[in-house]
Amino acid sequence: MTASSSRSIENPSPNSPGKVPELSIRVQNFSLWYGTFQALHNISVRIKPGIITSLIGPSGCGKTTLLRSFNRINERYGNVKTTGDITILGKNILDEDVSVASLRRNVGMVFQRPNPLPISIYENVVFGLRTHAEKHEITRTELDSQVEAALREVELWDATKDKLKSKATELTLEQQQKLCIARLLPLKPRVILMDEPCSALDADGIERIEELITGLKERFTIVMVTHNMGQAKRASDECIYMYLGEIIEHSPTADLFFNPKEEQTAMYIEGRYG
Ligand SMILES: Nc1ncnc2c1ncn2[C@@H]1O[C@H](COP(=O)(O)OP(=O)(O)O)[C@@H](O)[C@H]1O
Ligand SMILES: [Mg+2]
Repeated sequence: MTASSSRSIENPSPNSPGKVPELSIRVQNFSLWYGTFQALHNISVRIKPGIITSLIGPSGCGKTTLLRSFNRINERYGNVKTTGDITILGKNILDEDVSVASLRRNVGMVFQRPNPLPISIYENVVFGLRTHAEKHEITRTELDSQVEAALREVELWDATKDKLKSKATELTLEQQQKLCIARLLPLKPRVILMDEPCSALDADGIERIEELITGLKERFTIVMVTHNMGQAKRASDECIYMYLGEIIEHSPTADLFFNPKEEQTAMYIEGRYG
């Protein structure tokens, strides 16, 4: 049960009628191996800015691996080998001259379990700025205003403004995940990758994080892995269905769920609801 070819969509998303969006991420014939195990097979896909694209599919199908390829975090595993191209904002990120630090500033990531650093809320938000601001000093006033802006953006300012020096790890899980989104913002990323960002949260937390992500989407390219079909339906504009390391179908979300092009997609969707 493997697809002979991967699909990408030619039509603009229903959210941007009449406008042909520029591309944000273009993957061409991309394959990835962990040692001798091939986890991704000849992936080609185009991902647009200004919308949320979900990666869905059964556990182990390669969603996390593909997502992590977009900021080269997979390379932490050491035995990873790839072929093909991934072009983000016009540059092949696999080229030898690419700075991984600058790639990760442009392509931020939010993980399954919130992972704030065990330092203050304030220092979590400015950590990236301090790390990336190579030579020039950033003034305290500038840092303060970045912290306030980022925390306001994720609706965490009111809850934290009087305790910015408290440890971030003392926040609730939902607040920690908001903080993990907030700390990306001062770096002005173009792409935000999210790997099951709500999987550690309760129903209320899920709803609020989904609202937050939806509010951010117009200014970023957001790619989100989810195992939750309801979430993919509610929160994403386009969906990519993966199976055994291949892309089976990439469609506007409503089409993928209600009018799938591929039999395999239909089987997956029906299996979930049947
Ligand atoms: N670091 C790794 N080393 C070896 N194999 C891995 C590693 N990470 C993932 N895999 C394998 O790659 C495949 C895809 O995994 P993953 O991308 O995590 O899938 P998903 O996120 O869809 O559940 C699975 O077969 C998994 O066991
Ligand atoms: Mg995964």
